[in-house]
Amino acid sequence: MVVLVTGANGQLGQSIQFIANKYPNIEFVYTDFQEMDITNIENCKVVFAKHQPHFCINTAAYTAVDKAESESDKAHLINAVGPENLAKVCKEFDTILVHISTDFIFDGTSKVPYLETDVPNPKSIYGQTKLDGEIAIQKNWEKHFIVRTSWVYSQFANNFMKTMLRLASERDNLSVVNDQIGTPTNAVDLAEVLLKIITSCQTESHEVFGIYNFSNEGVCSWYDFAATIFHQKGIEIDLKPIPTDSYPTPAKRPAYSVLDKKKIKKVFGVEIKDWKESLTVSLNHLN
Ligand SMILES: NC(=O)c1ccc[n+]([C@@H]2O[C@H](COP(=O)([O-])OP(=O)(O)OC[C@H]3O[C@@H](n4cnc5c(N)ncnc54)[C@H](OP(=O)(O)O)[C@@H]3O)[C@@H](O)[C@H]2O)c1
Repeated sequence: MVVLVTGANGQLGQSIQFIANKYPNIEFVYTDFQEMDITNIENCKVVFAKHQPHFCINTAAYTAVDKAESESDKAHLINAVGPENLAKVCKEFDTILVHISTDFIFDGTSKVPYLETDVPNPKSIYGQTKLDGEIAIQKNWEKHFIVRTSWVYSQFANNFMKTMLRLASERDNLSVVNDQIGTPTNAVDLAEVLLKIITSCQTESHEVFGIYNFSNEGVCSWYDFAATIFHQKGIEIDLKPIPTDSYPTPAKRPAYSVLDKKKIKKVFGVEIKDWKESLTVSLNHLN
């Protein structure tokens, strides 16, 4: 089975590469922006023709949430036109598309975890372009899985966990917002789940296409996330909880974006680790 991975140098792409040797029956084809630019449909067709993938995991994305507010065309091109191109090329080659989306498609006004069927209402350009990408895939190719996730971090690339560790090495106090509530997701756990979906399709003809939520278990604020990083690493720092109003950013973020994971657990038998346990694993890999 051939699985083509886009955006392979990003944190999810690197996380897939990190666990790939556990899947000896899969031939992985890793492509970065240079080899396969998802905004260039002809480029995608050439790569698909060469490798004839059974699955394409699209980890490529424009993920600079604040910068997207001033680069909406670029964000739209990568997050909406890119997935549309992939859906069309996947249809041409009968390839199953596994795409990643985000909790930022929701407005954050819910008080209970978001279901896959809840109505999206993005408050940022990034969230809107990711939603546009989902819609483009749904319109163009039915053989797709869209996995919505949240607060992704890992030992790879840039993310909140690594930013906190860097800031702690540079200063002795830090303020982090405590009124945005969600769930951190270890990108390696996400990678495992994507491959579980793919291998389930292969071995059980288990093609239950559509949207799925996935994050680690548990609920916290960014302040709790930061405090736990420092606690687990034994770092002493003066950490202050602050409201979002005190840390204005160009992009609005949902105040609450916990995802309900009943569907993915039921359909694919996924067992999900608590976020604190997964954080320990990721921090240990940094040593
Ligand atoms: N990070 C989060 O907190 C988070 C939360 C929820 C959902 N997600 C979603 O999870 C997925 C993976 O995110 P991530 O954290 O792994 O992102 P990431 O680290 O930013 O990686 C994205 C990769 O896509 C590449 N890329 C950009 N434009 C491309 C193009 N036109 N063609 C091919 N590759 C291109 C980037 O290359 P360059 O670096 O060279 O631009 C980068 O290697 C994304 O769909 C993201 O929206 C992320």
